[in-house]
Amino acid sequence: MLQLPSAELHLHIEGTLEPELIFELAERNGIALPYADLADLRDRYEFTDLQSFLDLYYSNMDVLRTEADFADITRAYLRRAAAAGVRHAEIMMDPQAHLVRGVALETCVNGVASALAGSEAEFGVSTGLIAAFLRDRPAGEALQVLEELLAMDAPIIGIGLDSAEVGHPPSGFVAVYERARAAGLRRIAHAGEEGPPEYVWEALDLLGVERIDHGIRCLEDDALVERLAAEQVPLTVCPLSNVRLRAVDTLKDHPLPAMLARGLNVCVNSDDPAYFGGYVDDNFGQLRETFGLSADELATLAANSVRSAFVAQQRREALL
Ligand code: HPA
Ligand code: ZN
Repeated sequence: MLQLPSAELHLHIEGTLEPELIFELAERNGIALPYADLADLRDRYEFTDLQSFLDLYYSNMDVLRTEADFADITRAYLRRAAAAGVRHAEIMMDPQAHLVRGVALETCVNGVASALAGSEAEFGVSTGLIAAFLRDRPAGEALQVLEELLAMDAPIIGIGLDSAEVGHPPSGFVAVYERARAAGLRRIAHAGEEGPPEYVWEALDLLGVERIDHGIRCLEDDALVERLAAEQVPLTVCPLSNVRLRAVDTLKDHPLPAMLARGLNVCVNSDDPAYFGGYVDDNFGQLRETFGLSADELATLAANSVRSAFVAQQRREALL
């Protein structure tokens, strides 16, 4: 583990649901889990690709039913993130994944937001909330949920795009991103995790995103690398996630050093830390061990996270 003062910009709150908490919430809500015990659940954290992870991720979040459940997972993440050195966190949540289970938008949004509201005082971590839309569901549904979030004046700073990437290109979500832009929201999207470089181009040119989540496959396209480097588009890279979802074979094969060498604005994030073997300090620690990153390189990664955060200049200076 390596604690560096940093901002975490790529984090799914539903992916912080630790196995122990899954059992605790199941008991609290009277839900029968399809696992015999903790060991049985833990045995299932072997993934072959993004979809194999998403199947378990969506299934486990069924234990989240009440506002208190959402507040509790959020507080648990913030406590752990603070211990990892995180001083600012921009947290994605997947409203549609809860709506389809019959959990009201107010329940999930207000639960997460209530924990975030106390975060600076309780943990010293400033926060922002990002509503991520599921790209493997209809864009019309995403637009409707965005309208509902705006109507309820949800405390979101931006929108994102996640879930199964291949076959669900950014081009399908132009209207959603146009509406978000008109509403003054920040815009990010997962692209180039399993999907091709073309999806990164589309996210930039058609959705107008300000950051790319993952983006590791950009290295297959020199013109794209030049564009991303010239514009210093932030790429929120998640090394342990890429290993566990088999986007790369081992951490040694991870393109992060190559991305830094090409002048890309890369930062380090945990994605779904309860599923991928560690929080941001674990990511930094394993990167240092694997690549022998220098103190300067580590400081660059941490500084990149702060300069890529959606915060006012005053908070940015306090974080640097
Ligand atoms: N990729 C895409 N969608 C996701 C992820 C991810 O790593 N985690 C949660 N939703
Ligand atoms: Zn992600």
